[in-house]
Amino acid sequence: MGKVTISIIKADIGGIPGHSWVHPKTLEFASERLADAQKKGLIIDYYVFSCGDDMSLLMTHTKGENSPDIHGLAWDIFKEATENISKKLKLYGAGQDLLKDTFSGNVRGMGPQVAEMEIEERPSEPIIVIAADKTEPGAFNLPLFRMFADPFTTSGLVIDPEMHEGFKFEILDVYEGRVYLLDVPERMYDVFALIGTPGRYIVRRVYRKKDLLQASVISVERLNLIAGKYVGKDDPVGIIRAQHGLPAVGEILEAFAYPHLVAGWMRGSHTGPLMPCKMEKVIPEKKIAIGPKATRFDGPPRVVALGFVLHDGVLEGPVDLFDDPAFDYSRLIAEFVTDYIRRMGPMMPHRLPPEEMEYTTLPKVLASLKFIPQEEYEKDRWKYLRGEA
Ligand code: 13P
Ligand code: 13P
Ligand code: MG
Ligand code: MG
Repeated sequence: MGKVTISIIKADIGGIPGHSWVHPKTLEFASERLADAQKKGLIIDYYVFSCGDDMSLLMTHTKGENSPDIHGLAWDIFKEATENISKKLKLYGAGQDLLKDTFSGNVRGMGPQVAEMEIEERPSEPIIVIAADKTEPGAFNLPLFRMFADPFTTSGLVIDPEMHEGFKFEILDVYEGRVYLLDVPERMYDVFALIGTPGRYIVRRVYRKKDLLQASVISVERLNLIAGKYVGKDDPVGIIRAQHGLPAVGEILEAFAYPHLVAGWMRGSHTGPLMPCKMEKVIPEKKIAIGPKATRFDGPPRVVALGFVLHDGVLEGPVDLFDDPAFDYSRLIAEFVTDYIRRMGPMMPHRLPPEEMEYTTLPKVLASLKFIPQEEYEKDRWKYLRGEA
């Protein structure tokens, strides 16, 4: 067959309770709607899964990236599920990520997150789909660097001649709309000069240098930049291809073994460890995979990984890849870091720096505080202290 497009379109359209989880009814609704679309021939295959309060629609089709049909299908499902389920059940933040009213052909810039990749299926096409909750797209910067550029994570970079030349990183500056194309390992220090600021620079796509085969794609929508205020974090999704001249499945997963600190968590305003989590339940007959709940302090931030192999666009799987005792130790470290950093309460660096708080409700609190110009205060501070001025 010709080219296949893998699309993940994701939104938070209401949580139960608070921002912790997606209602299974929402997932079932989406799965039924996608089954209809499959029957009509619009998509080849699909799977619905969640992580925390975010629902992802994974679809395969032949319509290419940015297809109005596929984006429209996802948008309609989110809208209908918001009306029929979130609003009726009064789920928290019903329709949270649907920032615009009218659909005009593409969900980009409208709230949902999008990760899409059109590919030529290889003789075997293993893919890993990742989704995180309570964080932002830049949370994947470090693991992506590790899997595609760090030989201590991916020994294939050293051992496999197919990968030995390295990879090309496409990095997006989400504030200025600039794209940087940098080769690793040659430009490694430049890569870090950018991606060390994950709230601004995002590793969007990675290509194998020798033949420009696209190896990964991450969603880059920044809700706050679209809405101009805090409307939840931009919980990201991504697709990574594995094996045969690309990082092995285990090298990709290895990049998540260290639960690094990311921005998000409670009220999108705190730093915390990104914990690799297993799914709560996979229900193959309904094609839904129910993800973990975000609990302690609405978190900690978490990531799930589902493995599939594609055959003519059909999604064989999923395999819940963090459902393994090998990741218990990473989770333990994440729990330890959670407990440690939580004791800082509202203090930085647990609480995010002021620039990141710009879009939250903190500026309102700050604006309501009365102050005295320092010079006046110094002249007669007792007047102010006694409340006489
Ligand atoms: P509200 O309870 O006011 O919605 O805010 C808390 C929160 O969860 C932020 O999204
Ligand atoms: P979400 O971005 O996952 O909706 O979480 C918002 C929040 O405020 C959590 O405390
Ligand atoms: Mg939410
Ligand atoms: Mg979320």
